[in-house]
Amino acid sequence: MQKKKCVLVGTGGIADSHVKAARSQEDRLELVAAMDVDLQKGRAFCERSGIERCYGDFGELLEKEKPDLVQIAAPPQFHCDLAVRSLEAGAWVFCEKPLCASLAELDRIRDAEKRTGRFCASVLQMRYAPSHRHVKAVIDSGDLGRILVGVCHTLWYRDHEYYAVPWRGTWASELGGPTMGHGIHAMDQFLELMGEWVEVSAMAGTLDRKIEVEDTSLAMVRFRNGAFGSVINSALCPREESYLRLDLQMATVELNHLYGFTKDEWRITPAPGKEESEGVTALNRWPDDAPVSHGIQIGAILDDMEAGRRPLTSGPGARETIAFIAALYKSVFTGEPVVRDSIEPGDPFYDRMNGGRTRLENAATVS
Ligand SMILES: NC(=O)c1ccc[n+]([C@@H]2O[C@H](COP(=O)([O-])OP(=O)(O)OC[C@H]3O[C@@H](n4cnc5c(N)ncnc54)[C@H](O)[C@@H]3O)[C@@H](O)[C@H]2O)c1
Repeated sequence: MQKKKCVLVGTGGIADSHVKAARSQEDRLELVAAMDVDLQKGRAFCERSGIERCYGDFGELLEKEKPDLVQIAAPPQFHCDLAVRSLEAGAWVFCEKPLCASLAELDRIRDAEKRTGRFCASVLQMRYAPSHRHVKAVIDSGDLGRILVGVCHTLWYRDHEYYAVPWRGTWASELGGPTMGHGIHAMDQFLELMGEWVEVSAMAGTLDRKIEVEDTSLAMVRFRNGAFGSVINSALCPREESYLRLDLQMATVELNHLYGFTKDEWRITPAPGKEESEGVTALNRWPDDAPVSHGIQIGAILDDMEAGRRPLTSGPGARETIAFIAALYKSVFTGEPVVRDSIEPGDPFYDRMNGGRTRLENAATVS
């Protein structure tokens, strides 16, 4: 079978993970070129990483290389345009989070997918971890009973220097604070495990960093299955952790980690008397494991390309989390609970996560 050709767009901090991911699939994927608007930086990266060709223009990259897959690792505000142009050029897309700036942009990507028959997957590598898929399968089997309560924390630390990078900390380019940029990973995993959310009430503020977007957000969530959830995203937490917790009728399921995990970071606590129950026994039967990586996800996308099927984190599988974040921000700015599917074209929060506002009314003033 002929190898597929991929190209990398953006050669900054996360680019190494993309190179490593492509090379982890080298029997069926070849990383032939990279592109960066900062051509000098791009060239230095390519030389260091052994990538043969480097471009400073995206159109030229697509035209000359005719890639099967485009890996997008540029800053968030460019994702949608780059993704749509890649699809139009006949490629599939593996695009960094956040996939796009708004529900409107998500619909642009959906329309481009329809026109081209290609798919655009959001990088959400946590969801592809074998241990996550295992926990989801056991929860979905119903053997652990109903989900009652869920907790999702992204308590990370990003200092003032981190926000000195020009694209960070603004609605226009980072598209949001730790809710959109960091908590998206844990919330995406959380929402997939908890089931369909139906209502969210949230508050957010800029408590310490000198940025336009929030540095902390909190949300209360109601789920279709009756469960309640609590979500915190913050960039202000010196002892960092990502924490997920689901309390089901038969057991508490917890995941505690930072940036990546294996089955060893999950903890199962059976409810009294449920130690030998079917669900708890199934949970403790872990499958072959591998740590979280971009490589696992890109491998799955290559399987999808070969099978001609939609990747897990594209289309509806990407919408769930972006729509949740849009609702969370709308609740922050309006002070009202926001219900599922209520943000439609014509709503300012359909076009932008901040609904065109910048000031977080309930935030401490940043001086
Ligand atoms: N999945 C993860 O775990 C993870 C981790 C870190 C960052 N990210 C995401 O990866 C993306 C990039 O983050 P980063 O930390 O590497 O940023 P960065 O600022 O270090 O690098 C971005 C690079 O893109 C280049 N660039 C800017 N505009 C471009 C354009 N229009 N076309 C091509 N290149 C362009 C810049 O010159 C720079 O080299 C962001 O969306 C970020 O949220 C994801």
